[in-house]
Amino acid sequence: MGEPATAVRDYDLFTPEVMADHNAFLRRVRDESPLARLPQLDAYLLTRYADVNAALRDKRMDTANMARVLHRLTPAEQEELAPVRRSIEMWMGHTVPADHLRFQQLLKHYFTPAMVDRLRPRVRAFTHELLDAAQPAGRMDVVHDLAYPLPANVIAALLGMPAGDREQLQAWSRDIVPIFANGGLAELRQAQRSVVEMQEYLRGLAAERRRDPRDDVLSMFLAAEAEGVLTEDEAVANCVLLLFAGHETTANLIANGLVLLFENPGRMELLRAQPELMPLAVEEMLRCDGPVAVLGRVATAPVELAGHPVPAGSHVYLAIAAANRDPDVFAEPEVFDITRRRNRHLGFGMGAFYCLGAALARMETDECLRILLARRPGLRPAYETPDWSPSLPLGHRLASLQVMF
Ligand code: HEM
Repeated sequence: MGEPATAVRDYDLFTPEVMADHNAFLRRVRDESPLARLPQLDAYLLTRYADVNAALRDKRMDTANMARVLHRLTPAEQEELAPVRRSIEMWMGHTVPADHLRFQQLLKHYFTPAMVDRLRPRVRAFTHELLDAAQPAGRMDVVHDLAYPLPANVIAALLGMPAGDREQLQAWSRDIVPIFANGGLAELRQAQRSVVEMQEYLRGLAAERRRDPRDDVLSMFLAAEAEGVLTEDEAVANCVLLLFAGHETTANLIANGLVLLFENPGRMELLRAQPELMPLAVEEMLRCDGPVAVLGRVATAPVELAGHPVPAGSHVYLAIAAANRDPDVFAEPEVFDITRRRNRHLGFGMGAFYCLGAALARMETDECLRILLARRPGLRPAYETPDWSPSLPLGHRLASLQVMF
C-alpha cells in the first residue's frame, strides 16, 4: 500500500479560479486530495510528484488523449471523423505496445545528438532571419513572429519539406491542436481536413523522396518501408504526429520562457551577463511553465493511485505542472531559479513515452533565446498582462507576446 488514504474529493474544472491561475488551483488540490476526481471529465487527477512519476512509469497506465476526445461524440459524428481516428491510431504512443516500440526504435536512429548538432546552424540562421524581419518595426509579437515559425521551420527541415511550404505547415499544425485540447466538433472537423490534406501532401513528397532520398525523416521512413518495417500509411501518419509533437510545444516553451524572464528581471540580467546559464534556465522554464501541463492515461488493469484503489478503464490526468512544483521534491518550488541544479522536472514526461524530441527542443529554445537576448539588449514587454488563453483541460498558452526593443 502507498500513502494512508486521504479522502478523494471532487473538483470543478470550469471555474474562474482555475481559468485565472491553474497553478494555484493545482497547489490546493495537491494539498487537499492527492487523488482527486474531475466529474466533468469523468476522470481522476494526480498532482504529487511521486504519484505522477510512478504513474508515468507504470506499464498498466496507457496513453489515452485521443480516444477521449472522440468518445464524447455521437456514433454518427464518430463515423464522420473515422479518417482522423485511423491516422491517430497509427501515431506512436497511440498504438499497441509492439507498434510503439517499432516506431520508437526507428525514430531513435534519427533523433540522435548528431542530428541535433546538424540542425543547430539552421536553427541559428532561422532565428536571425526572423529577427531581421522584425528589425524595422522596433517591436514584434514573439508568438507570431518567432516562437511559432522557428520550430515550424525546423520540423519542415526534419520532414524534408521545401522551404516554400512552411507557412502551410504552420496552418496545419494550428488546426491539429484541438485533437489534444478537448476540441469541439467544428474544430475536430477542421483538424480532420488538415490531417487529410497534410497526409496527401506527404504522399506526394514521399514519391519524390523514393526517387531521390535525402537526409530527412521521411526518407528514413521510406527506407524502412522498403525493408517491410512499416507501411506508407504509418510513415505519413507519424510525420503528422511529429509536426504536432514538435511545433506547438517548442513554440510555447520559447514564449512562456520569455514571460518568465520578463517577470523575473533579476534573472534576465543574470542570464544576459552569464549566457552559459541558458541550459539551466531552459530546464527551469520547463519546470515552472512547461508547455505540457497534463498528460492523459487510461488504467488497463486495476491500479492503486496515491493509496486508493482505482478500477480498470479509469481515465487519469497526470498534472505535470503540479508535480513540477511539489515542495517534497523541489526547494522553493514557486521560485524561478535559473541556477537550480538537479532539476528533475517531468516536462518531457518519463518512462516508455518520454519525449523523443527533448534534446532538439532544448537546443532550439536555448539557441533562440540566446540570440534574442544578445541581439536585443533593450528587449522589454509591450503588454500590461500576458495574453494567456486557457488550454483544456488544464494549463495555458500565450495567444500573443508583444515586445519592444
Ligand atoms: C518543449 C518542447 C516539447 C515538450 C514540452 C514535449 C513534451 C513531451 C511529452 C510530455 C511527451 C510524453 C507524452 C506522454 O507521456 O503521453 C512527449 C512525447 C513525444 N515527443 Fe515531445 N515535447 C517537446 C518537443 C518535441 C519535439 C521537438 C519533437 C520532435 C520533433 C517531439 C517528439 C515527441 C514524440 C515523437 C513523442 C512520443 C514519444 C513516444 O510515444 O515514445 N517532442 N513530448
